[in-house]
Amino acid sequence: MNLPYAEPFKIKMVETIRKSTKEQRIEWIKQAKYNLFNLRSNQVFIDLLTDSGTGAMSDKQWSEMMLGDESYAGASSYYKMKNAINTLLGFPYFLPTHQGRAAENVLFSALVKAGDFVPGNAHFDTTKGHIEFRNATAVDCTIDEAYDIENMHPFKGNVDLNKLEKVLIEHKDNIPFIIMTITCNTAGGQPVSMQNLRDVRALANKYGKIVVYDSARFAENAYFIKIREKGYENKTVKEIVLEMFSNADIMTMSSKKDAIVNMGGFIGFKSEEILRKATVFNIMFEGYVTYGGMSGRDMNALAQGLDEGTEFEYLEARIEQVAYLGKKLVEFGVPVQKPFGGHAIFIDANEMLQHIPKSEYRAQTLAVELYIEGGVRGVEIGTILADRDPVTKENRYPKNEFVRLAIPRRVYTNNHIEYVAAALGNIYNRRNEIKRGYEITYEAPILRHFTVELKAINN
Ligand code: F0G
Repeated sequence: MNLPYAEPFKIKMVETIRKSTKEQRIEWIKQAKYNLFNLRSNQVFIDLLTDSGTGAMSDKQWSEMMLGDESYAGASSYYKMKNAINTLLGFPYFLPTHQGRAAENVLFSALVKAGDFVPGNAHFDTTKGHIEFRNATAVDCTIDEAYDIENMHPFKGNVDLNKLEKVLIEHKDNIPFIIMTITCNTAGGQPVSMQNLRDVRALANKYGKIVVYDSARFAENAYFIKIREKGYENKTVKEIVLEMFSNADIMTMSSKKDAIVNMGGFIGFKSEEILRKATVFNIMFEGYVTYGGMSGRDMNALAQGLDEGTEFEYLEARIEQVAYLGKKLVEFGVPVQKPFGGHAIFIDANEMLQHIPKSEYRAQTLAVELYIEGGVRGVEIGTILADRDPVTKENRYPKNEFVRLAIPRRVYTNNHIEYVAAALGNIYNRRNEIKRGYEITYEAPILRHFTVELKAINN
């Protein structure tokens, strides 16, 4: 018999989490204005809101924390991080930032201006937010297969090269760069193939454009390339990572994901000229170039995390755990995005709650139900997240209306996963009893999903 995968670690420290009653949760979510971000963490039993900054650091990362150098300038921790980024990812220059969106803010301040177009696969919401904030336009060129949840395309994060070339021709003088998000969070944690990365590079070269990777989950992307793409089965994840980044000019990183730290980010550069331009903004927004919003100890933990996060056995256990949740949900009949994503399972609320009007926020309705059912917190990746159209101010209904269950790294056991699946199974069985959704009573003009307030619509 083939031995199953097993986590390549054991648990040295535990953290108590609390169960609650359904009655308590009904009251708490009402007080939270039906926005799961407003819940206190001790009102949540299993927290799958995000895999961002919620991972468990290793004993080696914690020991690195003790070695942190907190010097304002020239700290050894900066050089440790620089060395890791250079040797593991292939970027000779970098700027530390406090998290991923800060990297976007700094880089886009240097490169994006009003009237620009930024094509790529589906942009993450902060990326899109930072583009639109500058009165520029994010153009989603993802392949059409990505939006069909049953389509088993192995690389649903790929861009459609024809769509991309069309944008490059149409707006050729107003494109500061192409951005590729690896893995593509918005499309369901779906990977981009090495072939697609190479093809995008070739198109960029043809039109003289820079290529930026939004790299939060680059290691998971590399794992999928190893498992799914011909010719990569015998390469190590670390070799694949280097090859992926050989096709990029710049990377932005939210280190809270694949570098397995609680806070941190950076921008990697190959060009000293662009580094210089961005440095001005880094110093203004983030901090001096050798710390940029990070403590020395956090830079140390990040350098160690980049090394651990690109190990095959760790990635196999992680991605198989996510798939375990996906398989359980499929067994219960719950409609989910397939193939399963790297960091999360995406539940199709359009399918599950099709009897509720779209305008009543199906995915948000399902996310609230899941909290009430089991104290499990997921997040809406649907109409609320998609914001209103900046011009018409109408709701933008995305092709998919998802509830995302993101799995923190090295945090939960498969018993937790089974609990989550059972809670969703119960909701699936009583889905037709959920009659109405929610209406918005307050929303911010941009990135509204963090602070939105809702009211239940009664029959
Ligand atoms: N890019 C991607 C692909 C992301 O998923 C995120 C964050 C960011 C950039 C921004 O990074 O949070 O460090 O500022 N995603 C989190 C999530 C919030 O839950 O998916 P950040």
